[in-house]
Amino acid sequence: MNPSETTEILEDDATLQLDANDNLRHLLTLKGLSSTLLTEILDDAEYYLTAPGELPARTQSLAGRTVGNLFFEPSTRTRASFDLAGRRLGADVLNLDVNTSSRKKGESILDTIYTLEAMQIDLMVVRDASAGVPAFIARHVKDHVCVLNAGESDLSHPTQGLLDILTIRQHKPDFANLTVAIVGDIQHSRVAMSASQGLQTLGIGELRLISPPAFAPDADRFPGAMIVDNLADGLKDADVVMALRIQRERIGNLDGVPGIDEYFAHYGVSHASMQHAKPDAIVMHPGPMNRGIEIEGTLADGPSSVITEQVTNGVAVRMAVLDRVGKIMAAR
Ligand code: CP
Repeated sequence: MNPSETTEILEDDATLQLDANDNLRHLLTLKGLSSTLLTEILDDAEYYLTAPGELPARTQSLAGRTVGNLFFEPSTRTRASFDLAGRRLGADVLNLDVNTSSRKKGESILDTIYTLEAMQIDLMVVRDASAGVPAFIARHVKDHVCVLNAGESDLSHPTQGLLDILTIRQHKPDFANLTVAIVGDIQHSRVAMSASQGLQTLGIGELRLISPPAFAPDADRFPGAMIVDNLADGLKDADVVMALRIQRERIGNLDGVPGIDEYFAHYGVSHASMQHAKPDAIVMHPGPMNRGIEIEGTLADGPSSVITEQVTNGVAVRMAVLDRVGKIMAAR
């Protein structure tokens, strides 16, 4: 994509995703979505959750529709959960294998999209390393087609933000009095960005972003958040602690990045560092985890961890989003 195209697109993502009646037409970013809409999606997601051991919830609300999973970056959780979510709503699901697709022969992203559109793929789930790609696609698809952002550069991962917020709400519903601490490579994290946007819309009490200087974000990308470089200060009396992976795939120059042992000692979310948080604080991680780097393995597996709940909630959130845009699509 050409960079000027990208800049133009990014400024408009928040309005592009809503129709004239403020219904969700695409999901590109949590920025600009109202607290009412976010809450409705979270409530819908709760509806799709069943107890472990029970059969997962199923409907036929997307029967006859086709979901295309177009992941131009690796994924386990997001891709698998969109696949399951689509199938559990009765849709056909196509998982395009990008590594063996004609993208490798130089086909452009738009020619790929038009090809899939011609096969009546109505819901396109897109992950890409470049900023602006989901919105670029949303601008070019036919009116009835929906685009869902499944991870975009360091900018946006809206369904991850929703599943993180749902998990927090299940354990700590009093958002106004909540302190959430996100620890790690904030600068390159689309997870931190989407969680921050959604949590702040929903009136979170305090949001702290903790990182070594090499991973500190520009403050203007996270308005209202407290940016901290000392882990103990950042975790003090926190209710929710989310550890983030170092996003090596998005770091051009590793100068100034601490070594693994030094990183874990100063920024690792561990039994020791969690002593600064509240005794009932929950531990989160979007995955994939690098145990022993950003998080201690036994903490990730311990009673304060809600990491597997995040994964479970991911399917429910993606069902809620697919169902919502599918209904809007059907009504057009
Ligand atoms: N959290 C997340 O996006 O994980 P995947 O990269 O495995 O999809």
